[in-house]
Formats: sequence, structure tokens, C-alpha cells
Amino acid sequence: ITVYVPRDTTALALGADRVATRLQRGARARDVEINIVRNGSRGLFYLEPLIEVDTPDGRVAFGPVTPGDVEALLDAGLLEGRQDHPLALGLTEDIPYLKRQQRLTFSRIGITDPLSLEDYTALRGFEGLKKTLALDSQAVVDEVKTSGLRGRGGAAFPTGIKWQTVHDQAPGQKYVVCNADEGDSGTFADRLVMECDPYMLIEGMTIAGLAVGADQGYIYLRSEYPLAHAILDEAIERAVNAGYLGDNIQGSGRAFHLEVRLGAGAYICGEETSLLESLEGKRGLVRAKPPLPAIEGLFGRPTVVNNVLSLAAVPFIMDQGGQTYADYGLGRSRGTLAIQLAGNVKRGGLVELAFGTSLIELMEGFGGGTLSGRPLKAVQVGGPLGAYLPESQWDNPVDYEGFAAFGGVVGHGGVVMFDDTVDMGDQARFAMEFCSVESCGKCTPCRIGAVRGVEVIDRIRAGESFDKNLALLTDLCDTMVDGSLCAMGGMTPFPVQSVMQHFPDDLTPRQAVTA
Ligand code: NAI
Ligand code: SF4
Repeated sequence: ITVYVPRDTTALALGADRVATRLQRGARARDVEINIVRNGSRGLFYLEPLIEVDTPDGRVAFGPVTPGDVEALLDAGLLEGRQDHPLALGLTEDIPYLKRQQRLTFSRIGITDPLSLEDYTALRGFEGLKKTLALDSQAVVDEVKTSGLRGRGGAAFPTGIKWQTVHDQAPGQKYVVCNADEGDSGTFADRLVMECDPYMLIEGMTIAGLAVGADQGYIYLRSEYPLAHAILDEAIERAVNAGYLGDNIQGSGRAFHLEVRLGAGAYICGEETSLLESLEGKRGLVRAKPPLPAIEGLFGRPTVVNNVLSLAAVPFIMDQGGQTYADYGLGRSRGTLAIQLAGNVKRGGLVELAFGTSLIELMEGFGGGTLSGRPLKAVQVGGPLGAYLPESQWDNPVDYEGFAAFGGVVGHGGVVMFDDTVDMGDQARFAMEFCSVESCGKCTPCRIGAVRGVEVIDRIRAGESFDKNLALLTDLCDTMVDGSLCAMGGMTPFPVQSVMQHFPDDLTPRQAVTA
């Protein structure tokens, strides 16, 4: 009997290892032979640890399973796949949260043992790479252009055009750098890719290298992801041994080498130029652009810098064709987006869907509303630099241009929900405070502006010269948007301005607390 117990960071944090131990012990006590596979997570975090059992009809699920539930589940016939327990969820694939998704990039996530090359290749793994090896580099770049894929790190720049720029630079040392410094609030999709389907990222980076003429890649990984680090290192070694990486990929005579490098905990190192500085062993200070990294990047050489999710989308595109990917989506936002439901949400987790679903459908239909059960008040999409969206904007479909039209940010797809107990004035202050802590300090509007921003908001909340300080905050935000060198200072005002516009009642003097 095969039983699946996930081992991504979320499942582990919720006790998955102890669940696995108790399952093994309980099965032995019942004289039943079981094979426990440590799969990745399906991304349905509200059900983790989500245990699955193979049955003739398919995999059936139970969750969320605590170590204390295991004995009762075994008594209720878990190993026979019987569904006589309140934690029984039926066939995994029929769980509505999963069934209603369109999983292109995350199609294997939670199904496979992340480090098993057999599992990966059984589900079309490395098919995209094999097709790439049969094409010339321009045809690969063209296929990515056809897909309409845009940078999933948040800036949404067309990936194919970025690759074209690097491709067109004179031959010589070029690099592919994967930005795995996932730092936005509420986001975990990069981590899921790396922990649950690492060969997909390796394949995507190798395809990028072949497309642009780079033979060396680096994954710049945040140090807060130790499990992803261990899994990636092991996956790279196995991929080299199996001939999918190295000097002679699949006997083609073409080379691509890959290494993981760890960050040191700075949010700004997710910005591509400070990431490159950090990768070169320097302090993570933002570089002025131009020159673009595509022309002068790592060690001054042409470099593709792409987010994990952009690179992870590429194997599907090369295997199924760019047009198949482009058939999903809305307007200029083609393909699917990995939405990450977090914050005060009942059913948190990963939802991969074509662009075009409304926010309210995501938050209510998938998320089930708030965990507290109280009314939703605000949602922040696109990380700590994204605007807070009020109820009047929740019917909008998620797509880059549509969101930009009303001042929203899709970003990396993080959706952080807040109920009606949130003080939006505190959230506005938090945006400025976050920037003051994380600013690299290179330019004045951000370095000084963020500190002054906190002070001005404190004065507003204290009731000091209210109108004058509100006008000052407006001016300060405009200066930061117009005058900052990078998105850190340039976007920090977005959440602040959205509070001023949509939640003005919260940006007023605090009520004096009376005894
Ligand atoms: P950007 O718009 O300056 O650049 C986007 C990308 O396109 C860069 O890689 C740039 O080098 C490239 N590019 C632009 N023109 C090009 C050309 N002609 N040829 C080749 N490449 C070209 O945006 P930036 O500053 O890289 O990113 C800002 C975004 O990052 C924000 O929108 C925000 O949503 C997102 N973000 C994401 C975070 C995360 O954790 N994923 C954290 C913070 C911000
Ligand atoms: Fe550095 Fe902030 Fe200026 Fe960006 S905006 S370069 S983080 S000081």
C-alpha cells in the first residue's frame, strides 16, 4: 500500500514527519506493509498535512491530519482507502479547490516525490528540454515570445524579449540567474516549485541557457529556505549524474552548469541589480539602469535574470508549444498566474488559474472568506509595495493592465486578506517603516523619505496639525514615486496612497483612550 505524506516546509511545520512516523508504526502494529512516499504539497495548505492513499480508483485524501489523528484514521480503514472518518476528503483530484484550478506550471506539484527523476520524466519532465535541443536558439526564443509569458516576479516584462536581448549580444560568457529571493508578504509559490518540483526549475534554466547562449546558471536563494536549498542541491547533483546538466546535455555536446547561492536576508536583494551585486560578493546596493542586466549583468556580462515562476513556466511552453500557453489568459496577460492566498483567510494555499478570475472569486470562492469569520475589509495584492484594495475593486479580474488601470499591482501574485478589525492607518505606517528598514540607502527619496514618512504618519495619528501633515504626506509620496531609483522607494507610496484614498477614516487622529 502506498501512502503519501508531504514534506514541504508547510506540511513539516504542521507535523508531517510525526504523522509519517506514526503511520509507519501503526501499520507495523497491524501487520500491514506500507510504502510511505514523501511527496511535495498540493498547495492546499488549509488541509496540510494532507495524507493520500493509493486505491484502484485513484488517490484518496485525508486532512488536515495531526499526529494524534493517526490511530483513529487507521482504525477507520485509512490504509484500505475507506472514507469512514470526518477527515476523509474523497478523491484528491475531486477536491473542488484543486479541481477548479488550471495547473500548467504546478501540474506535478504534490503528485510526485520531488527528487525522483523517474516521477519527473513519467509526467513529461525534460520533454521541453529534449525539444529545445533539437531547435536552434532563435526558435526557442521565438517559442517563448509566442507564449506571451511575462515576468512573474512582478514587473511583467515579456520574457521572450528579455531573452532576445541576451541572445543578441556577442557570443562570450553569458549567465542565467534565477531570482529565488521570494520576499513578498504572503508569497510561497517559488518555494513550492523549488521544494516540490525542483527539476522543473532546473529544466527551465537549462532551456534559458541554451536559448541565449549561456553555459552557467545561478539560483540566488533566500537563506530562509533551508529545505529548498537542500532539495535543490540534491536535485542538481542527480540531474548532472543523469546527463540533464553538465558539459554534454543528453549527448548533444552542449553545456549548462548550475549552482545555488544563498542570500543573507535583505529584501532589496530581490531587486535584480542588487541581487547581482550580492552574487558578486558585494553589498546589495541597487545599480542604476541602464545598462540593463541583459546587456551588462553578472560580472559585467549579458545576463538573463528571471523569477522562479517565469523559468518554471518554460518547460511546459517548450513541450506543449507557446500557443497552448497563450490560449489561456486575458488581454495581454497570457497563461496562468500562481495566486497565493494568505493573511486572514480560511482556506489559504496556492491557486493556479488563467488570468481573468476576479479577486472576490479567489478570496471567497477559493479562500472561503476570512479565518476569523469577520467581514473582509481590505486586501493587499502584490506584496508590501502593492496597494490596499477596498471592496469596490474586488470584482475586477486579475490581469496586469486591468489592475494598473486602477492603481493595483498584481506583482508576484500574493493576496493578503484583512478583516474589519484592521487599522489601515497602521498598515500605511507599516509600509513606510518597512521601506525605512529595507532601503539600500542609495537614493535620497527612499532613504530619507521613508523615515520622514513614518514620522509624518505618527504626527497625523497624534492629531498634530492634521491637514498640514496630510498634505505633507501627499507630497512626500509623490516625491518618492517620481524620484526613487528603484521599485522599493518608487512603490512604497502605493499602499500609503491607497489608504489615503480608500480608507481615509483610518488615517485620522487615534481616539484618546479614556480610563
Ligand atoms: P523593471 O520594470 O525595471 O524591469 C523588469 C525587467 O525587465 C527587468 O529584469 C529588466 O532588466 C528587464 N528589461 C526592461 N527592459 C528591457 C529590455 N529592453 N530588454 C531586456 N530586458 C529588459 O522592474 P523591476 O524593478 O525589475 O521590478 C519591479 C517589480 O518587482 C515590481 O513591479 C514588484 O511587483 C516586483 N517585486 C517583486 C518582489 C518579489 O518578491 N517577487 C519583491 C518586490 C518587488
Ligand atoms: Fe536603494 Fe531605495 Fe533608492 Fe531603491 S529606491 S535604490 S532601495 S534607496
